[in-house]
Amino acid sequence: MRHYQTKILGTGIYLPKRILTNTDLEKMVETSDQWIVERTGIKERRICSPDGGEFPTDMAYHATQQALKMANLSPNVIDMILFGSVTPDMKLPNSASILQTKLGITNKCACLDLAAACSGFVYGLNMAHAMIQTGMIKTALVIGSEMLSREVNWKDRSICILFGDGCGVALVGRAPEGDSSAILSTYLGADGTGKEFFDQPIGGAVTPITAKHLVEESHYMKMKGGEMFKVATRTLAQCAKYVLDDAKMSLEQVDWLIPHQANLRIIETTGKILGIPENKVIINIQKYGNTSAATVPIAFHEAVTEGKIKRGDVVLLDAFGAGLTFGSTLLRY
Ligand SMILES: CC(C)(COP(=O)(O)OP(=O)(O)OC[C@H]1O[C@@H](n2cnc3c(N)ncnc32)[C@H](O)[C@@H]1OP(=O)(O)O)[C@@H](O)C(=O)NCCC(=O)NCCS
Repeated sequence: MRHYQTKILGTGIYLPKRILTNTDLEKMVETSDQWIVERTGIKERRICSPDGGEFPTDMAYHATQQALKMANLSPNVIDMILFGSVTPDMKLPNSASILQTKLGITNKCACLDLAAACSGFVYGLNMAHAMIQTGMIKTALVIGSEMLSREVNWKDRSICILFGDGCGVALVGRAPEGDSSAILSTYLGADGTGKEFFDQPIGGAVTPITAKHLVEESHYMKMKGGEMFKVATRTLAQCAKYVLDDAKMSLEQVDWLIPHQANLRIIETTGKILGIPENKVIINIQKYGNTSAATVPIAFHEAVTEGKIKRGDVVLLDAFGAGLTFGSTLLRY
C-alpha cells in the first residue's frame, strides 16, 4: 500500500478576551501571586465569556479561519474534523458537527469528538496522520478547545489557580511529492489505573447531577496534584523517548520540544530528565495556565508566528492528562 507524508498546512488559535490574573484570584480564594508563580509558573489565564461568542466551537471557528488563511485553503477541503475537548458545547450533537455547520462546510465531512483530556490534540493529530498516511482522507482539522472555567470550583484554591480557557487548531494534509515536511513518528497510550488522580465522576451516566451535588459542590473536577505531578514528569519523558527511538533519532536532532503546559515545574523537570537545553523548550504557561487539549496547539501556533519554529525544524509534541492518557508526535515542520 502507498504511504503518504503528513504536513501541518496551517495553524490558528483563539484566546478569550477576559484575562484573570493571580492578583484577581487573591480576591477570590486564599492564595497569593507569589505562591502561584513559585509552584506553577502561571501569572494569568483567559476566561471565556459565559454569555456566548466564546464557547468551544466559537473559539474553534475563529482559530480555524486563521489556519485556513495560513494554508490558503477553503473549508470544504476538510475531510474530517477531530475535536479534542472535555468541555464540549453540549452533550449532543458533538462539537465537531456543530463546528462543521459554523464553518459552512457542505461536503458532509466526518466529525468526531475526542475526550482524551490534555492529550486530546496529540491524540487527534496522530489519528489524523494515520488516516492521511493510508490515503483514507486527504485533509483533517485537528482541534483542542476548552472552556474549563465551567468545570472548575472557583472556591477551591488547589484547582482554580491552574486552569484556563482557549483553543488551538491545526490543518493537516497530504504533503506534496518531494516536500520535506512530515510526521516522523507517533505514540499514544493510556493507563486507566490512574483514573482517581484527576476525575469528575459526577454528571455522567453513572451519577447524574442532583440538587445535593450542586449544594455540596461535588460535581467539579477533582485532582490529586502531587500524584499527577510525579506521573506527569515520568510519562512525558517516556513518551518523548518512544517517538525518538521509533524514528531512530536523538534528542540533539530535535529543534523544539512542546510539552503540555500543566505546570512550569513539570516542564522543567521533564526537560532535565530528557537532558534537553532550556532554550529548545516552548513555554507559554505564564500567560494561559493549563488549557488542557489546547495547550500544545496554542504553543505550536505562537512559536510558528513568532518565528521560532521554521519550516524544516524538527518538533516534538508531548502530552499527558486525565485518564491517564498520554502521547507524543515527532514531526518535521
Ligand atoms: C497543584 C500543585 C500546584 C500543588 O503544588 P504542591 O507544591 O504539590 O503543593 P501542595 O498541594 O503540597 O500544597 C502545599 C501547601 O499549599 C497549600 N495550597 C494549595 N493551593 C494553594 C494556593 N492556590 N495558594 C496557596 N496555598 C495553597 C496547601 O493547602 C498546602 O498547605 P499545607 O502545607 O498547610 O497543607 C502541584 O501539585 C501541581 O501542579 N501538580 C500537577 C497538577 C497538574 O498539572 N495536573 C494536570 C495535569 S494534566
